[in-house]
Amino acid sequence: MKKIDLRSDTVTLPSEEMLEAIRTAKLGDDVYKEDPTVNELQEKAAKKVGKEAALLVCSGTMGNICGVVSQTNRGDEIILEQTSHIFLHEVAASAVIGSLQARTVVGKNGYLITPEILQEAVRGKDVHYPISSLVAIENTHNMAGGIPWTVSETRQLISAARKHDLKVHIDGARIFNAAISLGVSAQELTKDADSVMFCLSKGLACPIGSIIAGSQEFIEEALRVRKMLGGGMRQAGIIAAPGLIALEKMIDRLAEDHKNAQRLKKGLEDIPGITTHDCYTNILFIDISGLGISGKEFKAALAKHNILVSSRWETTFRLVTHFGIEKEDIDFVIETIHNLPWVKRKN
Ligand SMILES: Cc1ncc(COP(=O)(O)O)c(C=O)c1O
Repeated sequence: MKKIDLRSDTVTLPSEEMLEAIRTAKLGDDVYKEDPTVNELQEKAAKKVGKEAALLVCSGTMGNICGVVSQTNRGDEIILEQTSHIFLHEVAASAVIGSLQARTVVGKNGYLITPEILQEAVRGKDVHYPISSLVAIENTHNMAGGIPWTVSETRQLISAARKHDLKVHIDGARIFNAAISLGVSAQELTKDADSVMFCLSKGLACPIGSIIAGSQEFIEEALRVRKMLGGGMRQAGIIAAPGLIALEKMIDRLAEDHKNAQRLKKGLEDIPGITTHDCYTNILFIDISGLGISGKEFKAALAKHNILVSSRWETTFRLVTHFGIEKEDIDFVIETIHNLPWVKRKN
């Protein structure tokens, strides 16, 4: 029986073409900047997000650390949405590595840092205060159900940040999901920010790797931070080779994942006891508290059918569609949930 793993898009496996590209990649020492495949990827990746330069990093977390730490000074304050990945899930790296203090804000609708919210959070000049120096946004915002920041929301935030002399970093782990769902180019969402990180892994299906992009000057500094983190890699062309395929061939297909997520929502929304949240891209949150069972029981019941889901809170689950999950798999998941004994009893 096929395993249908909806826990995250981080579970994607590389395509055959990617594996072949890894095998045949031209390689060199990337710490000497002599790996031709890495150099090609970095040039193409920079263009994709409208930036002068880009750097291949090991992970999204490493990319965010490079982005945040290389544009701030020790003791500065950075402004983050309270459910952002940087704040919640990066092991306090900005505090540990950058000696930065996080100022969290509650975003409108769980994600949006409006100019007003930003204004409230920025410190004035006072001998008691740290210096506010950067704001980071997350597009798409994972914990708010994969919602994309629109071009206009992004522009408003950036223009407000400029008034306060703040740098803007975009955690764009899923920036192409945002672009595809909004029908705009990724560049439109990123070009005005100082730095953007996006993942080649996750929905783009590479086994490893993320990109951090910005001005040439910023990338020189990010390179130092990457080296400090132990992220100076040698024949990294084996990571870059599938990255080139990801940029060329895996972006447009994200629309399929979005369609599948909508299909899943539609198939589950009429089930008594289950509430589906709004779905924007490839992430669907559902709440099963109305079934009268624990999250553990729900998870175990699905696991018996080889369906894996991850819980966010006790009875709230995040279901993520991605490369390798087909329409038929979604139909199987819907049917399986419909046939769970607790659902049947409610019907
Ligand atoms: C929004 C967001 N940013 C950053 C990351 C970090 O990426 P990585 O797991 O490659 O470190 C993730 C990972 O899931 C994420 O969802």
